[in-house]
Amino acid sequence: MSTEHRAATNQALFERAQAVIPGGVNSPVRAFRAVGGTPRFIARAQGAYMWDAEGQRYIDYIGSWGPMILGHGHPEVLGAVRKAVEEGFSYGAPTEREIELAEEILKLVPSAEQVRLVSSGTEAAMSAIRLARGATGRAKLVKFEGCYHGHADALLVKAGSGLATFGHPTSAGVPPEVVQHTLVLEYNNVAQLEEAFAEQGDEIACVMIEPIAGNMNFVRASIPFMTRLRELCTHHGALLVLDEVMTGFRVALGGAQSLYARQIPGFKPDLSVFGKVIGGGMPLAAFAGPRAIMSQLAPLGPVYQAGTLSGNPVATACGLATLKLIQRPGFFEALSQRTRELSEGLTGAARQAGVPMAGDCEGGMFGFFFGPELPQNYPAVLATDKDRFNRFFHQMLDAGVYLAPALYEAGFVSAAHTAEDIAATVGAARRALAAG
Ligand SMILES: Cc1ncc(COP(=O)(O)O)c(C=O)c1O
Repeated sequence: MSTEHRAATNQALFERAQAVIPGGVNSPVRAFRAVGGTPRFIARAQGAYMWDAEGQRYIDYIGSWGPMILGHGHPEVLGAVRKAVEEGFSYGAPTEREIELAEEILKLVPSAEQVRLVSSGTEAAMSAIRLARGATGRAKLVKFEGCYHGHADALLVKAGSGLATFGHPTSAGVPPEVVQHTLVLEYNNVAQLEEAFAEQGDEIACVMIEPIAGNMNFVRASIPFMTRLRELCTHHGALLVLDEVMTGFRVALGGAQSLYARQIPGFKPDLSVFGKVIGGGMPLAAFAGPRAIMSQLAPLGPVYQAGTLSGNPVATACGLATLKLIQRPGFFEALSQRTRELSEGLTGAARQAGVPMAGDCEGGMFGFFFGPELPQNYPAVLATDKDRFNRFFHQMLDAGVYLAPALYEAGFVSAAHTAEDIAATVGAARRALAAG
């Protein structure tokens, strides 16, 4: 590191970045627009901590937005990556490691028989939709308000004026015709779902859903809602696509689908989308399903999909090492316990301070809202206290605790977080909430 870089402040780096990168960031939420202030430029990370350019240490509850389930720089993952790097960065030809990773994923996800590796969650979700459309010969797709499935054109949509109307683009550059087949419904609203299927069920190729919606902080699909969704998809021949980019290998070893399968007899999705943890912090994602559907993909079938860096040897080494480590006995029990300590610690601190807060968690993922109860859908998330969240975020950041910089985002605990880290976080929360 040069002296010049070591001396740089976050503010100086942000100004320099804004000259050459739109908004100074390569993904919008990093710019702190929702909470205000100067983004921290991270210099390095180890275990549960990140250090910014000014040398300030943070307890990290973002974990790269989910992938870092083992914490940063786990020695066994580092070893696997170093070995892979020595063997070559990328070949553009198949490798044994891709088979190993595919076998590992399928072992943990019994709903799927085959998996295709890609490089980002966006790419995986987009490809799963194309596959669903190709396999069913239908065009329409259903998504839910508040769920995020990456930035493919057909998914950047908000609800239309009525149930029968299709959505409007949420981004410039997406022509209305591109989203004319996308229907946006309210999360956890069974009546609306039934109405949509009654009107257009036989034209729907797929319904895509985050089973626990981490892109509206932390909202679970209710059991009645998921049960009815599965029934309606089956009845109408639409594919149920679970977007487990965030929840996969994170809320449980078998993802959120394993939790729903425990409560809904015979429950399984038709297609699953994965990312984040399966790459362990490297660009890697996947979509998976039964052989009969997956064999519609090129080169076997008519649905085209490809990628220069798909199944990259360094990324697969990182993902494989990560997946092996999270299968060690007791891993998820310990991670869940730690996350629960944090979740209960935060809501307990709020209760003591007389501040309404509701929290929830599963495995290594958590969420909390400044409001008296857990929201069930996006409008309810929007009704929580944003100003209080933003103040809390900055109070915690100043105290060395890095939470997600927007109230719509979930938080992540890693296996590297110690009981002391959680206690320090809860202590900081207690002081922040008491200060108002
Ligand atoms: C549920 C979900 N699906 C898809 C994506 C898109 O993944 P990526 O950012 O890797 O393109 C995300 C990203 O946060 C996500 O949370």
